[in-house]
Amino acid sequence: MQKCISINYDEITDFNLLSQVDKNLINKAISASKLAYAPYSEFNVGAALILENNKIIIGNNQENSSFPCGVCAERVALFSARSIYPELLIKKIAITAVPKNFKLHNPVGPCGLCRQVLMEYEKKQQSDIEILFFDTKKIIKIAKAKDLLPFFFAEDKLKRIN
Ligand code: THU
Repeated sequence: MQKCISINYDEITDFNLLSQVDKNLINKAISASKLAYAPYSEFNVGAALILENNKIIIGNNQENSSFPCGVCAERVALFSARSIYPELLIKKIAITAVPKNFKLHNPVGPCGLCRQVLMEYEKKQQSDIEILFFDTKKIIKIAKAKDLLPFFFAEDKLKRIN
């Protein structure tokens, strides 16, 4: 039997249509991207998430000469939020990529590792995390992390039943 998974998302080109919260998050993600430590890829990424108490936590990519040590902007923000405010719901995260040497033609979505981290927090908090990724022309808005990671790996797979 063949099955199909599809996702709904919003594509927004008029930034004026965004809520004040979304505009604010987007601006915070842009500022965060400017502070990235990305001397190797020269591909700056910024993320800004908002918690249930309206606190905003930012992150940007942190690279290292030992390349695998580097961490994406999204996970820097998520781990920071979860380490400081473990009890607070993460409501949404805005993400933007700003390469130094070329222009992107579309907004860049979070990598697979970041989707996995988003997914686990979303599942644990039992409340959706909205994801916005954007460039200067367009915003892609996805209602929940689960939509970005079908057949995700979850912690219950690690538990023995007997
Ligand atoms: N990067 C992010 O920060 N987020 C992503 O979702 C994808 C990639 C970073 C990692 C690395 O520092 C640079 O972008 C190039 O891959």
